[in-house]
Amino acid sequence: MEDATEGTHGCGNTSEPEGDRCSENDFGPSILGTKDYWEDAYQKELETFKDIGDVGEIWFGEESMSRVLRWMDKVKIPENAAILDIGTGNGAFLVELAKHGYRNLTAIDYSPASVELARNVLQAEDLTDITVKEMDFLNCQGELKDFDVCIDKGTFDAISLNPHDTEEGKKLYVQALKDALKDKGFFAVTSCNWTKEQLLDRFSEGFEFVQELPTPSFQFGGRTGNSVTALIFKRLC
Ligand SMILES: C[S@@+](CC[C@H](N)C(=O)[O-])C[C@H]1O[C@@H](n2cnc3c(N)ncnc32)[C@H](O)[C@@H]1O
Repeated sequence: MEDATEGTHGCGNTSEPEGDRCSENDFGPSILGTKDYWEDAYQKELETFKDIGDVGEIWFGEESMSRVLRWMDKVKIPENAAILDIGTGNGAFLVELAKHGYRNLTAIDYSPASVELARNVLQAEDLTDITVKEMDFLNCQGELKDFDVCIDKGTFDAISLNPHDTEEGKKLYVQALKDALKDKGFFAVTSCNWTKEQLLDRFSEGFEFVQELPTPSFQFGGRTGNSVTALIFKRLC
């Protein structure tokens, strides 16, 4: 994960051909896996937002939100569904969800600056009834539960890049997700570091794979790959 746009660069699965995907250890730890990095980044984005009203980076681009929204339309996720945005960043996805009619929205992020930025962004859009909490998803003490849909765009990636306890972090993530979702609740994950196969493996216990959302593919050296993977899982009872 190095770039916020959907392109053919930066991420762990970009140049790997299908059928020859990278192993669990193909990308190493990074400062993008640290809270300090995100706090610094959102502190700057908050200042910019206050100065000129720019919300900052839309990770993986606008299309990454549209494709999840299209899927939600297709499977008729009701407008009153309880939706959690895990690691909301600037809250841009919340704005899109609210504009789409969803009205039971919660978001968390462990960066206080992200939470302040998201609240500012929502306020500027007159969206005052969305809850944004400062919370570490890996240590949420059972506070997050009964969600119909959990959305993750780049947060599992960031957690996977943590220089400390990466395996432990990933396991805690899966458990926190299980706890947060209702039985049969959906998980929509967008990743640029993990391939479809790796995500299927990571979320194999307690979840059922539902579908892959189409993302742009590219060719390199006669082989095809995807820069971003977007998958839907369902929480098993
Ligand atoms: C790549 S950014 C994506 C932000 C947002 N989802 C988006 O699409 O713009 C990763 C986000 O995950 C948050 N994050 C990382 N680890 C977290 C954790 N353990 N608990 C909560 N948020 C976390 C970061 O603060 C950051 O906002």
